[in-house]
Amino acid sequence: MARPKIALIGAGQIGGTLAHLAAIKELGDVVLFDIAEGTPQGKALDIAESGPAEGFDATLKGTNDYADIAGADVCIVTAGVPRKPGMSRDDLLGINLKVMKSVGEGIAKHAPNAFVICITNPLDAMVWALREFSGLPHEKVCGMAGVLDSARFRHFLSLEFDVSMRDVTAFVLGGHGDTMVPLARYSTVGGIPLPDLVQMGWTTQEKLDAIIQRTRDGGAEIVGLLKTGSAFYAPATSAIEMAEAYLKDQKRVLPCAAYVDGALGLNGMYVGVPTVIGAGGVERVIDIKMNRDEQAMFDKSVDAVKGLVDACKGIDQSLA
Ligand code: APR
Repeated sequence: MARPKIALIGAGQIGGTLAHLAAIKELGDVVLFDIAEGTPQGKALDIAESGPAEGFDATLKGTNDYADIAGADVCIVTAGVPRKPGMSRDDLLGINLKVMKSVGEGIAKHAPNAFVICITNPLDAMVWALREFSGLPHEKVCGMAGVLDSARFRHFLSLEFDVSMRDVTAFVLGGHGDTMVPLARYSTVGGIPLPDLVQMGWTTQEKLDAIIQRTRDGGAEIVGLLKTGSAFYAPATSAIEMAEAYLKDQKRVLPCAAYVDGALGLNGMYVGVPTVIGAGGVERVIDIKMNRDEQAMFDKSVDAVKGLVDACKGIDQSLA
């Protein structure tokens, strides 16, 4: 049986890391696409040359021609520009919306059966636009944000509690922006919810609040340190987890920016929610119940995403 084909649209910092991880994990053959000439070809060759030492079986190809993504099983989209210090993800909207149009058309023409994972920011609006431009089924187009935001939350919690990151589960809902909603009540250490751990004296409410804020600012913290771009190792790893769930029909329960129509009181929009990812793409949106405070935070985040989608419609009339 032929190996799956993974097309990476954008061969920058995240794209290159995605290619490396996909090869090492032998998820399939990799095609790196970018408009910059030489970048995808150079990265593909460099990673392929790591194959003999690493011992993976996968081919890697770099290209500037969409025809080379033909028949891809998975497309992961990072094309666009990242933010610089002082910028919010929302500042990228105008530039990256145009990029989503060309990427959406390229995928529709050459890889219409792919499972598409968008990483380009501002995430929730870009994944919506990419779906509109590509016309693919909603369950086959989603965005990577929740896995990353939850991973950041889990990392900070594991440091606070001095326990393995593997035993910390965390839950982050809403848009991938300043209004994201880390949900303490649904986050656990070995199954014990965070509010219980506060009561048990493992941490204080103040410290927990600070960790939640650090999670919200997690992307900006890295941008501030790097100064020349944004995070790429953890974003790439998070998207690979989602791609693997699809390719291996793992039915993983993962938070992602998914199309929600009916669940959580939403009518037809993309936002970060808990989902099940398997061979059908986003097979289910988990309709969790929120308390009044959580609902208020979620509503605020939903409104922020709606504002960005409206801004997209204002820029590109074909989306209105
Ligand atoms: N088609 C294909 N590739 C494009 C296009 C386009 N229309 N426009 C830009 N690119 C390519 C650039 O040439 C560059 O190689 O997208 C790549 C982006 O790579 P980086 O600048 O290194 O950005 P990266 O850190 O990978 O982040 C990409 O993901 O997390 C988000 O906010 C981040 O929106 C940004 C995206």
